[in-house]
Amino acid sequence: MLVSTKEMLRDAQARHYAVGAFNVENLEFVMAVIRAAEAKKSPVIMQTTPGTLKYAGLEYFVSMVRTAAQKASVPVALHLDHGDSFDRCMQAMRAGYTSVMIDGSHVCFEDNIALTASVTKVAQAIGLPVEAELGKVGGKEDDGPAVEGENPYTDPDEAVEFVERTGCTSLAVGVGTAHGVYKGIPHIEQGVLKEIRSRLDIPLVLHGTSGVPDDQVAEAIQNGICKVNYATELRQAFMAGFMEYMAAHPDCFDPKKPAAPGMVNIQKVVEDHMDNLGSTNRA
Ligand code: 13P
Ligand code: ZN
Ligand code: NA
Repeated sequence: MLVSTKEMLRDAQARHYAVGAFNVENLEFVMAVIRAAEAKKSPVIMQTTPGTLKYAGLEYFVSMVRTAAQKASVPVALHLDHGDSFDRCMQAMRAGYTSVMIDGSHVCFEDNIALTASVTKVAQAIGLPVEAELGKVGGKEDDGPAVEGENPYTDPDEAVEFVERTGCTSLAVGVGTAHGVYKGIPHIEQGVLKEIRSRLDIPLVLHGTSGVPDDQVAEAIQNGICKVNYATELRQAFMAGFMEYMAAHPDCFDPKKPAAPGMVNIQKVVEDHMDNLGSTNRA
């Protein structure tokens, strides 16, 4: 069934686990993620960035994820990831997305508040949840600018004021993670997270989680993270399976053939994360 992230994240928060939010790029990603969720009896969030939507458009993803959700025995949500404007968020909600993120982390505090509040005002009226971001997740997400040389951590005082003034229903925090592939081993500042958690009671969201060791993610969940985003690992898993098949069968011209081991790889990555997030058997 297709549901909103509101109930999902509320349950995750109450029972101290997290729901995985997996970025899907095409039909094969949608099928692989839903297979993992069914196999693990886990709630699941599928999400798309503006870059992915530039590739295929909102309507294709709504149709694919709705179809997957209708057939599934687990709750499925469809979320706009890193929404880059008021208009984009409105378009996603109208098209059938069950929640949106408005990412104002690249503009100043006051502008972030104004942008986020403009989205929550409409979303509240139609009963949909809104994720916002305060602080910086490093690296380069999608087509966005890379962030370097600034303090990336979310300020707990600012976080309280931000949530009060915007009415966002979940918050992506800067606690040391970065989008894409890490150069060294990442380090989540659990102290910052604990401080934010002690002051705020809405679900917190972890971005840039590909490449973060499982034990750090598990600890972050104990410290208030309820939604955990994975994109890069799924891309790598799919392409590794695809390329391996093509290396062994260079004359193949049926795209379904290399896609099959790509999907198997994604399913494995997603299933392993569901176990670590604690969302297995929660559906
Ligand atoms: P990764 O690509 O590092 O997994 O980040 C995913 C993400 O934060 C999507 O919003
Ligand atoms: Zn992100
Ligand atoms: Na990452």
